[in-house]
Amino acid sequence: MCRSDERRLPADKKRISGCSRQSVVSSRRSIAGTLVLLALFTTACSQNGSLQIMANQPRYDPLSPSNFFPNGMSAQPVISDTVAFRQAMTDTLLYNGTTKGARATTFPFPITREVMLRGQERYNIYCTPCHGVIGDGQGIIAQRGFCCPASFHTDTLRNAPVGHFFDVITNGFGRMPSYASQIAARDRWAIIAYVRALQLSQNATLDDVPPEERNQLGSATPAP
Ligand code: HEC
Repeated sequence: MCRSDERRLPADKKRISGCSRQSVVSSRRSIAGTLVLLALFTTACSQNGSLQIMANQPRYDPLSPSNFFPNGMSAQPVISDTVAFRQAMTDTLLYNGTTKGARATTFPFPITREVMLRGQERYNIYCTPCHGVIGDGQGIIAQRGFCCPASFHTDTLRNAPVGHFFDVITNGFGRMPSYASQIAARDRWAIIAYVRALQLSQNATLDDVPPEERNQLGSATPAP
């Protein structure tokens, strides 16, 4: 067969080890056919025999139910505030503290008691060393000579929009370093809500106290 093929072919370089390509191709075809049969045979075995475990692997198919998770779903929702790699942080109010390019005057989410308590906790961790527990700029580091953490109880800062505070915490301000890598965006907002409460606490009048709660103030503190 090899020889007859040789005769039909022009005398060029189309010989491979003494045989024509055609015969090599046909022998390859038969090998491929054998492999296909073998594959079919193996698959059939794996569904019924001892290889069953490999056919039905212990993994979830997309959206299949789960006995493991309490909500019965294998596809768990992402944890709140998870940002996938390269996912756009498009909420400029939440992440930049701006609305239409200007410093925001509103919070990106409602300020509840929980948010306030969280803000108090975070403020006491991150801000008190310099700004003090009431925000007068007399934290322990200031007392040791670090000049001069701002007091929040100035007219300028009382009137500053919340977006300004967000900018200061995020990007730093003068000698104050950025806290963006240590305090998540939501916690920055919680701290700002607490700073607002501190500002009110140091600049409140009796009129700011609801009438029904004024008698709890004891010996009628005079309005400043
Ligand atoms: C390491 C000390 C330090 C810590 C901690 C710190 N600050 Fe400051 N902060 C400063 C100093 C110093 C200034 C004044 C910077 C200047 O005027 O150069 C300042 C200024 C400010 C101002 C005033 C900006 C202005 O417009 O004048 C705000 C608001 C502020 N800090 C908020 C915070 C908050 C909120 C935290 C906690 C997340 C915090 N700081 C943590 C040192 C600190």
